Amino acid sequence: MMSVLVTGANKGIGLAVVEAILREQAQYRVILGSRDSQRGESAWESLLALDQGWSDRLEVLELDVASDQSVTEAKAIIAAGSGDNSPALYGLVNNAGRGTGSTAEVLNVNVYGIRRMCEAFAPVMEPGGRIVNVTSASGPNFVARCDAQGQDFFRDADMTWDRLEQFMRECGDSDSPYGLSKACANSYTMYLAKCYPQLVVNACTPGFIDTDLGSDFLGGRTPAEAGMKTPADGARVIMSLLFDQPKGSGHYYGSDALRSPLDHYRAPGSPEYTDA
Ligand SMILES: NC(=O)c1ccc[n+]([C@@H]2O[C@H](COP(=O)([O-])OP(=O)(O)OC[C@H]3O[C@@H](n4cnc5c(N)ncnc54)[C@H](OP(=O)(O)O)[C@@H]3O)[C@@H](O)[C@H]2O)c1
Repeated sequence: MMSVLVTGANKGIGLAVVEAILREQAQYRVILGSRDSQRGESAWESLLALDQGWSDRLEVLELDVASDQSVTEAKAIIAAGSGDNSPALYGLVNNAGRGTGSTAEVLNVNVYGIRRMCEAFAPVMEPGGRIVNVTSASGPNFVARCDAQGQDFFRDADMTWDRLEQFMRECGDSDSPYGLSKACANSYTMYLAKCYPQLVVNACTPGFIDTDLGSDFLGGRTPAEAGMKTPADGARVIMSLLFDQPKGSGHYYGSDALRSPLDHYRAPGSPEYTDA
């Protein structure tokens, strides 16, 4: 049996991904990451209330992706449990995110958090394993508003972590920290895929989803007026990137599980992006 680790999974889209794996992928175990152990336990209880039989395929892991120490400790806990009969790590869903805060705070979770997790776990993942970085259409929308030089930077297939980190160190405070962070996370995904050719590494937007974070972007509308979908809907593209036949690596996908460009928005249902 193999396992999938989902960060920020105590609520919202992350919790919906955990439930979907338990419901639909009986041969996989799930590690539910939560930065607060109480909130993680509550999520565990809410899932077992749906199906008590899931208890032997579900574990909660305290994990704050903004903290080097927390990620190191989480890795040690997983490594301590990994004997010959323990599940190998097949999937890593970098879902934890924050929508508001200073540029430094948002980058620390939405970009450095993904980087911390990948540095720790990608080297120990099963060949053919999947990394899914949950980014956002706010990334391409941010890039679309950049000047030509900025757009070239974000879509540069030769992006490296060093270049991206230098950019983040020097960019100062953004008037759109969230969009900036998701643009950076999409570019990082291109680089990450090259670092781990034995894995399938992609990013995606879940769509506009009715969650606490999503409500930060309602701008006075109700969820219905804004056309928000449910966390279960948001989980679909993540499930596809985890378990369907890989279509490529280093790409960014829309909520309809079709590839999208890094530099402008592609609405779900419109033709798939191709760079050919
Ligand atoms: N909802 C949307 O419309 C939408 C659209 C595009 C992309 N996304 C992306 O989808 C992902 C999930 O968001 P959501 O909509 O499901 O929001 P949510 O319900 O507010 O969930 C966010 C999750 O991230 C966790 N988190 C925040 N900082 C963390 C940290 N430092 N370490 C570990 N976990 C942390 C939260 O934990 P706590 O409960 O402890 O705060 C929570 O579990 C995010 O990456 C978000 O950017 C969402």
